[in-house]
Amino acid sequence: MSAGQATRMRILLVGAGGTLGRAVAAELGTRHHIIAAGRKSGHVRLELTDPASIRQAFAKAAPGPLDAVVCTAGEVAFAPMSTIHPAPIGESAYTLGLTNKLLGQVNLALAAREHLVDGGSITLTSGILSEVPVAGGSSASMADAALEGFVRAAAAELPRGIRINVVSPSILVESLEAFGAMFRGFEPVPAARAALAYSRSVEGIQTGQVFRVY
Ligand SMILES: NC(=O)c1ccc[n+]([C@@H]2O[C@H](COP(=O)([O-])OP(=O)(O)OC[C@H]3O[C@@H](n4cnc5c(N)ncnc54)[C@H](OP(=O)(O)O)[C@@H]3O)[C@@H](O)[C@H]2O)c1
Repeated sequence: MSAGQATRMRILLVGAGGTLGRAVAAELGTRHHIIAAGRKSGHVRLELTDPASIRQAFAKAAPGPLDAVVCTAGEVAFAPMSTIHPAPIGESAYTLGLTNKLLGQVNLALAAREHLVDGGSITLTSGILSEVPVAGGSSASMADAALEGFVRAAAAELPRGIRINVVSPSILVESLEAFGAMFRGFEPVPAARAALAYSRSVEGIQTGQVFRVY
């Protein structure tokens, strides 16, 4: 499908049951068919850290090609850097961010290529920590900035007019209770406002972009 067409799209939404994912499902679900995916919830079960599970999820989301793949999942560990010591991958405090939020979303994007229609789109999620550090957030900053670099490069190499963008939200209003103490002075954004950036990515024409919502 070409961008801008008012056709009902088939969208695989990974993380649809989460705080951000529910808002994205509400925004895009009014116009499109959402195939919800998550570890423990959704039409399709998927573990982002397991490439075989990603491939199986795409097989389950078929038959029928996908117009868009959106990811609002990805975990990182928060820890003061004074507690983090040199360690090999697998033992490092950075392992979760690297394997889950970063490589999980990268693997999802790589696998998506085979299942998207010509001109389809991929939308990943980073976060404000790619540009603005907070105490204990070095893993998130690393994963978020790497995702944004990946998206800029991948946009130039994706085949068949497939687009890719990443949405970088600030702390969500809905997450203030859990994480607000780490984000003093940050302007929180409602998840519904962040969801509009996913709409711009899926339903617009841009590629290789970081949609900052802050
Ligand atoms: N919340 C914020 O303020 C905020 C701000 C900026 C950026 N972000 C980023 O936005 C993303 C979503 O945040 P959130 O607050 O909405 O998280 P959340 O409420 O914890 O929801 C995460 C969702 O992703 C799924 N998920 C998590 N790990 C997964 C995995 N390894 N494989 C497959 N599915 C997985 C979960 O599925 P199950 O429930 O089935 O396990 C859940 O549906 C994260 O990358 C986060 O860093 C969040």
